[in-house]
Amino acid sequence: MALATTENTTSLDFGPAVALSCRECGARYDLGPTFACVECFGPLEIAYDFGQVTREQIAAGPTNIWRYRSLLPVPADVISKPNMAPGWTKLVKADNLARELGLRSLHVKDDSGNPTHSFKDRVVAMAVEAARNFGFHTLSCSSTGNLAGAVTAAAARAGLDACVFIPADLEEAKVVMASVYGGKLVAIEGTYDDVNRFCSELIGDELGDQWGFANVNLRPYYAEGSKTLAYEIAEQLGWRIPDQIVIPVASGSQLTKIDKAFKELIKLGLVEEKPYKIFAAQAEGCSPVSTAYKAGLDVIRPVKPNTIAKSLAIGNPADGPYVLDIARRTGGAVEDVTDAEVVDAIRLLARTEGIFAETAGGVTVGVLRKLVAAGRLDPDAETVVLNTGDGLKTLDAVASQARPTAVIRPSLDAFRAVIA
Ligand SMILES: Cc1ncc(COP(=O)(O)O)c(C=O)c1O
Ligand SMILES: [Zn+2]
Repeated sequence: MALATTENTTSLDFGPAVALSCRECGARYDLGPTFACVECFGPLEIAYDFGQVTREQIAAGPTNIWRYRSLLPVPADVISKPNMAPGWTKLVKADNLARELGLRSLHVKDDSGNPTHSFKDRVVAMAVEAARNFGFHTLSCSSTGNLAGAVTAAAARAGLDACVFIPADLEEAKVVMASVYGGKLVAIEGTYDDVNRFCSELIGDELGDQWGFANVNLRPYYAEGSKTLAYEIAEQLGWRIPDQIVIPVASGSQLTKIDKAFKELIKLGLVEEKPYKIFAAQAEGCSPVSTAYKAGLDVIRPVKPNTIAKSLAIGNPADGPYVLDIARRTGGAVEDVTDAEVVDAIRLLARTEGIFAETAGGVTVGVLRKLVAAGRLDPDAETVVLNTGDGLKTLDAVASQARPTAVIRPSLDAFRAVIA
């Protein structure tokens, strides 16, 4: 086994995880705080040696992501450590929205119910365990907003220091959340891609020594947290993979890990083998993957983002080529929607299902609507759409269209005058 790190890995406990493996060339490395293959610069991901895993064993676990701990890079005793215990969010049977769109069976996986109100609590939970394992004292990240809040909150509970980096122009609620949990919040003048580049530099500097960057040097561990979305969807559907699923794309990590998790479930015999289609959703103002998909290209040309969907505003997505590959291989697609369609979709989901999504959820529901209307999504197939964050984080997106119906004096006459 090649070594990508000088860390002493003998005392590490990552449960069923046994190695890092290169997604491009298959080279294997000892588990360490590293994320790129030294042979080909391909991304590293976790390789496992799963024992026998049964539905009963999972069902006996806690109602959070740790019920799947035997499928994650965490020690068996993870449950007993202070952590945010995210996951097991609602899979909402969305009959009203289905009717409106002309679909037979639709569910919304609503991850706004996580502790810091986005799916990022899932991935950060893995990063915390990796930081503990590697003996890091500080948890950090480059973030489009949600990750920053998830990191500062989880670090607070785990007793780690936090220092997180965001672009300076983020939504106020995300800035407030990321700072209220303590730690340091540094806003950088630039795009997310500038912030990410800065973090890569920091890792190489003594300033960042003993720091775990959730989505950089801990990325292989962190990314695995997104698998729990797929496990939960399958288990909540009665141990069945949906026919088609719509997933938002920023870096593309979540989408690639959901695909990885469905494949694991099939391989472990936890669900029946079946084809499934994965659809990727972007905002038109930051749609490098959708643009490449429509042009029939395999390479992603980076863009400078300009969209209200700031949580998805990554112009140079690390997993972009894999998203393209998965969408094509599964018979899905990559599509984008305008900011106006994002706002419309947020309001549609709220009006039909009582779920207030952040702009990322507006992107997925907007893309779902567009694909159904274009006949590119099978209206009779079992469909799942993700809402990955809470609308309270992006109030400005809908504020101008969401005002009181009327402002009146407290009298029946005044009410009668406006309600007729
Ligand atoms: C709310 C929300 N949804 C989806 C994503 C997409 O995540 P990924 O980078 O894994 O594609 C993000 C990323 O920041 C996000 O904040
Ligand atoms: Zn490689």
